[in-house]
Amino acid sequence: MKAEGDPNLIVYFNGQYMPMREAQVGILTHALHYGTGVFEGIRAYWDEAEDEMFLLRPIEHYERWKQNCGILRIGVPASAEELSEITLEILRRNNLRTNAYIRPLAYKSSERVGVATDDQDAFAIVALPFGDYLHSDKGLHVGVSSWRRVEDNAIPARGKICGAYVNSALATDDARRSGFDEALFLNESGHVAEGATCNLFMVRKGKLITPAVTENVLEGITRDSIMELAQRELGLQVVERAIDRSELYLCDELFFTGTAVGVMPILQVDHRPVRNAEIGLITAQIRQLYFDATHGHMKAYRRWLAPVYKSQPQLEEAAIPA
Ligand SMILES: Cc1ncc(COP(=O)(O)O)c(C=O)c1O
Repeated sequence: MKAEGDPNLIVYFNGQYMPMREAQVGILTHALHYGTGVFEGIRAYWDEAEDEMFLLRPIEHYERWKQNCGILRIGVPASAEELSEITLEILRRNNLRTNAYIRPLAYKSSERVGVATDDQDAFAIVALPFGDYLHSDKGLHVGVSSWRRVEDNAIPARGKICGAYVNSALATDDARRSGFDEALFLNESGHVAEGATCNLFMVRKGKLITPAVTENVLEGITRDSIMELAQRELGLQVVERAIDRSELYLCDELFFTGTAVGVMPILQVDHRPVRNAEIGLITAQIRQLYFDATHGHMKAYRRWLAPVYKSQPQLEEAAIPA
């Protein structure tokens, strides 16, 4: 099995499978200078008990990617189903049998100076062995950033556009240098938006609340999964609405969600404890449900998963809780 950063990892680039060391772009590539690319992040989870790897919601990720590419008028000449098959093939060719992260990237590929775009596009898909993105079992201390989230009329946050991640990088750098684990963005209206690479949920008075998609947030696929699990499995009322900064200081529970971070509890905001600074009951339940659903342990959510190897006999249906 190859390690993260191994130049021999097989990637998909310019329509071919090849070792990562051969997948090179020129120094004048448009996206490198102007941020004119759109990326995705997809997880594949290894389940030891089943001796199988599950690619998580690939069709939803690739449909979002193709839509977002449309914002920059980047064409991806493959369907979501075809892209999903290519991804499964990359994982198999690398014989990855551990948690992995898949990074599709589509970009303006012409090599010339000048910000105007033309129709020269390219895309690549890389799969890496990848453990936890944030290394904290104890929950996070987040700081509200002095940087505001990018506006829809400037660079749409829902677009997962490469250049927009300068905004995330500035806020993360500031937060870490100030002693916080992560940054939390407000938008230009002063409402809570999201983290630098993750969506936010708050529990208040028994309801699960998250900023609406019109608050300059990425329309997260984990966000969608969590809303479904919370409603269906826990019977919680889920509300999408504007969240004020001061609600962060008096809410009952707070957590981030995202492909990279999974479900990550937040125990302090701006040096103020969230309740008693312990992981809340609803957060813990949702985190466990998300783990079970994404590792193939819940029959009702097998529809989210594409098995990578299929070589092992599937668990007896009856053995998987609905
Ligand atoms: C800015 C931002 N918000 C939220 C998310 C979470 O989205 P998803 O759950 O689709 O990974 C991500 C990661 O993709 C992100 O980069």
